[in-house]
Amino acid sequence: MGAAAAATVVKKEDVITSHPQNNVSENIFLKIGTNLHHRPDHPLGIIKNAIFDYFEQKNPGKFRKFDDLYPVVKVTQNFDELLIPADHVSRSPNDTYYVSDEAVLRCHTSAHQAQLLREGNAAFLVTGDVYRRDTVDATHYPVFHQMEGVRVFEPEEWEGAGLDPTEYAERELRAELEGLAKHLFGDVECRWDTAATFPFTDPSIELEILYNGEWLEVLGCGVMQQSILEDNLAAGGGKKAWAFGLGLERLAMVLFNIPDIRLFWSEDERFLKQFKAGDLTTTFQSFSKFPPCYKDMTFWLSDEFTENNLCEIVRGVAGDIAEEVKLIDEFTHPKHGRTSNCFRITYRSMERSLTDEEINKIQDQVRADAVTKLGVELR
Ligand code: PHE
Repeated sequence: MGAAAAATVVKKEDVITSHPQNNVSENIFLKIGTNLHHRPDHPLGIIKNAIFDYFEQKNPGKFRKFDDLYPVVKVTQNFDELLIPADHVSRSPNDTYYVSDEAVLRCHTSAHQAQLLREGNAAFLVTGDVYRRDTVDATHYPVFHQMEGVRVFEPEEWEGAGLDPTEYAERELRAELEGLAKHLFGDVECRWDTAATFPFTDPSIELEILYNGEWLEVLGCGVMQQSILEDNLAAGGGKKAWAFGLGLERLAMVLFNIPDIRLFWSEDERFLKQFKAGDLTTTFQSFSKFPPCYKDMTFWLSDEFTENNLCEIVRGVAGDIAEEVKLIDEFTHPKHGRTSNCFRITYRSMERSLTDEEINKIQDQVRADAVTKLGVELR
C-alpha cells in the first residue's frame, strides 16, 4: 500500500479562527481526525478496503493510495484548480465550511487532484472525510467520506487501441467502474447517465446500478479536463486521464442496508459488532425502535436565515439525536410581505429513549439560538 495511515492532528485554532468568513462550528471541529475510514472493521473501512482490493487485483501496484491527507485545503485546491467558476453555488458559505477567505474544509476529495498530479502521481486513490453544510435527514450529515480515483494514460495506450484519447479514456473508465460495481454489489445491471456535468470533467457521466428493483446513483466521474493535466502534470498536455469520486456512506448504506447516516458515527457495540473486516455480506439489523419526538417552530425569516444555517444550529444543540429538519409550512403576509416558515424538527436517538424534559430543553435552546444567531422572530 502507498501512503501510511498516520493520525491527522488538527488543532482547534487551525479550523475555528476569528476570521470574519469562518463558519466552522464546534461540533464539526470535534469530528475532524476521527478517520472512520481507517478502521478495517467499520463499514466505511470495509467498503474502502473492498474498493482497494478491486483496483489492486485488476491493476497490481498501479494505484498509489492516500488515506490521510489533511482536510483543510486552500480555496484554490477545492475550487479554482478544478475550474469551478467563481460564481458556482458550491463556493457559497451556505454550502461550504470556510476556515478563512483562503482555506476551507474540503468539500470533496477532488480537492487533491491537481496537487497529486503536480507531485508526479499518474494513478491514485484518495480516501478522506469531506465537509458540507446541508440539511438534516437520514442521508445527509455534514461530514462524510469520499474516495477519489485518477488514472492518466500515455499516447501509446490509445494509439494501440486505435481510438481517440477521449474515447479511449471514457471506455476504460466505464469498464473499470462497472467492474467495481459488480465487485461490490454482485451481478448488478449498470447504466450511465450522460446528462451529468462537473466543471473538471468532459464528458461527465454518472453510474447507476439496478439494486433491489431500484436505480441508484453510485458515483460521478468523467474524462479529466485537459487543462488540469496540462497545468499540473509534466508533459500532461499530451496525456489523457479519467477521474471519479464516490461517497462511501452512500455505498455502505445500500450494501449493508444501513437506514440512517448517523449510525456511522455510533460507538454502540450493537452497531459496530455487526461488521467484520473483509465481509461485504452483512445485512444490518436495526436494534432500536425508539420513538421519535416532533417539535415544530414557526418564525418570521431574517436576512441571515437559511435552511442550512438553521440545521447547523439544530446539530450544534442536539448533536446526533437530530434526525430531520423539515419545512412543513410557508406563508407570506399579504399586508407587510414578510415570510414565515414552520419547521418540524424530529428528535430521535438510535441508542436510547429520550425524555420529554431533555427534548424540551434542547428545543428551547434551538429557539433561543435561532433568535440570537439568525435574527429570526419567533411566532
Ligand atoms: N467531486 C465530485 C463530487 O463530489 C465527484 C467527481 C469526482 C466527479 C471526479 C467527477 C470526477 O460530486
